[in-house]
Amino acid sequence: MATRLQRIGVLTAGGDCQGLNAAIRGITLAAIGRFGLEVVGIEDGFVGLQQGRMRALGRADVIGFIHHGGTLLGTGRGSAQGADSMAEAAALCERNARAAGLDVLFCLGGDGTQRFAHHLAEHAGIGVITLPKTIDNDVRGTERSFGFDTATAIACEAIDRLHSTAHSHHRTMLLEVMGRDAGWLAAASGLAGAADAVLIPEIPYALEAVLAALTSGHRGRHHALAVIAEGAYSREEAARPGFRPRKHAAALRLVDELERLTGIETRLTTLGYVMRGGTPSAADRIFASALAARAVELAVEDVRGVLVAERGGALVPVPLAEVAGPPRTMPLDHPLLATLRATGVCLGE
Ligand code: F6P
Repeated sequence: MATRLQRIGVLTAGGDCQGLNAAIRGITLAAIGRFGLEVVGIEDGFVGLQQGRMRALGRADVIGFIHHGGTLLGTGRGSAQGADSMAEAAALCERNARAAGLDVLFCLGGDGTQRFAHHLAEHAGIGVITLPKTIDNDVRGTERSFGFDTATAIACEAIDRLHSTAHSHHRTMLLEVMGRDAGWLAAASGLAGAADAVLIPEIPYALEAVLAALTSGHRGRHHALAVIAEGAYSREEAARPGFRPRKHAAALRLVDELERLTGIETRLTTLGYVMRGGTPSAADRIFASALAARAVELAVEDVRGVLVAERGGALVPVPLAEVAGPPRTMPLDHPLLATLRATGVCLGE
């Protein structure tokens, strides 16, 4: 028979993103208000749990944060910092979770967090429920992660601004966006911002195709703009012996070559961490709050070892074993890519 749930823990791990505070708030308010549970906030992710850094969370601790960027609990990269191995890290997490009387641990994170949470559920016997957060939108098992909507909007606004200065100077503009090994952010913002070319890691690009797209952009409106995912690379680079994709500076490698080959002034803007900071969009606040409320409901129903995922518009539990693989990259037949192709945007093919 299920034991009665009394106390839950919440942590945010990995890179921050917009919507984390909405999720912490949602979990806390639903747990206290709807089910009379106690909530403990763990500082700085799994590292904080290993070090036993936690504090009680009440309504007053989470009210007034929904519109703030970042995470009120702090976050940390890595799961085994200070511990010699993943097993040692998991044992420390288990010891401190038990000492604090946590019946369920809510882990808000991206793909690395999902993998370590799965490890905790499998090997440390901790009841875990995870939420998908990341601007990269690459968590397996869910069609959407919170943070992605805001980061896409930030990139789209940057593209709008770049178009006007590119137009004045008749320049080519390259915008590098984050996303790690996945092209979701580049594809979504490139479509919304009317880029001439969108280069993503899933499609190693042919330089000639990019040149053709950007020079014809100049013929149509006297300037051109390409959005490049930080993990993108060319077919030529991919063919080099021993080539391994680099997770940054994709556009830095391309900008001089483009200027030399086209003879057109070409400028690079790298958005970087601007994409992860500041006010979350309404859509991210709503999505994070809904995931949070559903996660608490699932915990009360005694569901453990799952990610709360969005699938076909519903919020459903997905076993962490299905989630804990490599990041979710873009399928080449994804509707977003189909729309880019249909509207004449060059994908470097
Ligand atoms: O996963 C989110 C992300 O912002 C990626 O887009 C980017 O590659 C990475 O984190 C940067 O990591 P860090 O915060 O460790 O520099």
